[in-house]
Amino acid sequence: MTLLITGGAGYIGSHTVLEFLSTGRDVLVLDNLCNSAQESLARVASLTGRTPGFIQGDVRDRATLDALFTQHQIEGVVHFAGLKAVGESVRQPLSYYDNNVAGTLTLCQAMADAGVFRLVFSSSATVYGTPAHVPIDENCPLGQPTNPYGRSKAMVEHILQDLATSDPRWAIALLRYFNPVGAHASGQIGEDPHGIPNNLLPYISQVAVGRLPQVSVFGSDYPTVDGTGVRDYIHVVDLALGHLAALDYLQAHSGTHIWNLGTGTGYSVLQMIHAFEAACGRTIPYQLAPRRPGDIAACWADAQKAAQELGWTAQRDLAQMMADTWRWQSGNPNGYPDSPTK
Ligand code: NAD
Ligand code: WQD
Repeated sequence: MTLLITGGAGYIGSHTVLEFLSTGRDVLVLDNLCNSAQESLARVASLTGRTPGFIQGDVRDRATLDALFTQHQIEGVVHFAGLKAVGESVRQPLSYYDNNVAGTLTLCQAMADAGVFRLVFSSSATVYGTPAHVPIDENCPLGQPTNPYGRSKAMVEHILQDLATSDPRWAIALLRYFNPVGAHASGQIGEDPHGIPNNLLPYISQVAVGRLPQVSVFGSDYPTVDGTGVRDYIHVVDLALGHLAALDYLQAHSGTHIWNLGTGTGYSVLQMIHAFEAACGRTIPYQLAPRRPGDIAACWADAQKAAQELGWTAQRDLAQMMADTWRWQSGNPNGYPDSPTK
């Protein structure tokens, strides 16, 4: 039996493919490479000694999906494929709803017709909007995401819950990621954003390596430890391992299951900059700047539910997140050689 991993060439996907291959699972990746490089999977193969199957194709393409489900015995699907840039989603909402919402609908229709009902979905803490309180547990009511990207995740959560209600054969995990960072400890695979990074840690690491001049710290007057925004940063390898635990759980539990994947600890922007300086041995120039529209002050997870139900907790601390990011960034200052240009 084979596991289908959509978006498996991307940042979180490639780390997850590596962990599944390491446990002996057979993996087939479907990815259109719109935001990733196939080199990531070549490196996963050399790290694990096992080569994942690969189909370059789109989750919105029903014919590709039908052929894939006919040709392979798929036991379940881990669905990463989608677009994730918040600002771009404001400029190109149709593209986001098409890839993230319509893509998931097409995938689920093809799965049902093929008799495959086990699905792990990449959701996001963004569905909580401005949280009523921190830490955020899974019972916290969903908020109002402030952009089409966030709304696409909330829509898919509702759709998948309706689907599981309609047919008891479905077993679906909605994984709400907090802020994924870091890289595999080998330094061979990591995050490879195109253009100017949107997220904090890739921005810091590109300043450290000399690709960008300085970090702008968005907001220094939040009610937090030092006035800068606080987030729950989780090592991407811990996040990947959460998918293995979730998929195992679905073997014995149908319906929809929601888990926060975070560490339960928040760090401020300035704490992140200083931790990265310690890891790379360089000074990171930064300037205080106005708040970024749409940002919240602080957000971190209550990660108890995943601990209790999945036996999963994040193991890697901030120092390791920073050291692994630096190993990847300094060894691959321009990312993968075959990254798509935008
Ligand atoms: P990524 O862009 O590195 O990976 C997404 C992958 O999906 C890429 O390889 C891309 O080429 C592929 N893809 C996109 N649209 C596709 C389509 N229509 N058909 C086939 N392949 C397609 O992003 P990531 O950081 O690895 O994120 C993976 C998932 O996790 C996404 O769904 C994202 O929304 C979600 N997520 C990410 C974060 C984060 O901060 N990185 C946080 C929460 C949730
Ligand atoms: C973290 C902190 C910024 C960049 C976003 C998406 C969310 C999810 C993860 C996918 C904030 C500050 C940032 C910079 C800064 N993605 N910052 N200077 O905003 O928590 O979440 O990515 O699902 O949906 O919204 O992450 O890394 O952008 O920002 O000061 O150059 O760093 O203000 O406090 P965020 P982030």
